[in-house]
Amino acid sequence: MAQQQQEQTLLLDGQVAVEPRVTPPPPVTTDPAQVKALVERHGLCILDLAWELGGERATVLTSAGEAGAGDGTDAFKEAAETIPERIFGEVGGGCLLAKSGSVLVPHDEVAQNRTSTLHCDAIVSYGEQRPDYLFLMCASASDHGGANTLSDGLGALEGLRSDPSTRWVAERLESTTLELTTTHPAISADGSPAAYTATRIIRRTPSGRRQVLHAADNLKSLDTASEEEQALDAEMLAKWSEAIAQMEPQTVALAPGEILVVDNFRYFHGREPFTMEPTPRALWQKWMWTATGQGLPFGQTPESLAAESTHAGGARFNPAPRVKPYTPPGAVAAAGAGATAARPAAKI
Ligand SMILES: [Fe+2]
Repeated sequence: MAQQQQEQTLLLDGQVAVEPRVTPPPPVTTDPAQVKALVERHGLCILDLAWELGGERATVLTSAGEAGAGDGTDAFKEAAETIPERIFGEVGGGCLLAKSGSVLVPHDEVAQNRTSTLHCDAIVSYGEQRPDYLFLMCASASDHGGANTLSDGLGALEGLRSDPSTRWVAERLESTTLELTTTHPAISADGSPAAYTATRIIRRTPSGRRQVLHAADNLKSLDTASEEEQALDAEMLAKWSEAIAQMEPQTVALAPGEILVVDNFRYFHGREPFTMEPTPRALWQKWMWTATGQGLPFGQTPESLAAESTHAGGARFNPAPRVKPYTPPGAVAAAGAGATAARPAAKI
């Protein structure tokens, strides 16, 4: 079996390991110095720092109505604060461009009862210049549920490419420009899907790193696309959605002191429902921008990014959209003909 899996593994660009249609279990290491190479090759890994944090216990407030509900002990938060540098070196030192503040992922009642479906972080906040790596550090694990789910976007893409009947889909995903819509209140005045930005599903960064930018949700053909192009886009999106759905996700239940480090350009992640009783769930999250990504989001600096994601009490806070205002090509033509552009001005 192990040999069979070995034979299926592709080595893209000589260094990125992918198994078409398969999400393998994440590699595990206890050495922060190994993480960079592991995430570059496999797209994720678990860094186990329990040996360093032995005996530490997180204090998590669970009272109802508290924004973000809680605060871990300093030991976990302090460890989370230094992890980016331990993996990528100092901020501004060459590899690590910026890091967000440390935030506790939500564990309010709504989050507890809801499955977080597979997604990439910060698409609406930062668009294609979203953080290229993220981590989730477990300070306290729920006794019931709360595991993270993970699915390899490159595995789905290479699955399409490896089948001659769907190879065209993999190629079109890299070449076709689509429109991303959003219902974010800063963009959509009435809550209906509004044009947000033009994007492709698969791209490469300036350094040549592959980016799986989007699942199939909230994407549509440009208004300027021909009927034939729109039909191909619709079929491509359906096949892409199917390919992602057919991937069996890995389920990872982190223990205190374990950190899941994820390539946010490659992996989709989600979370199962959970309870906060008898043991609460508390995870520290941090976003990282590195030199192999798409640079820092529009007008942001390492200092502003470090401050922007931190909220009073450490609760999670999704920054406002930072993507430059986008006017769909169709709206330009309509406005030129005397009509009113459909897109409301973004309050950013
Ligand atoms: Fe997330």
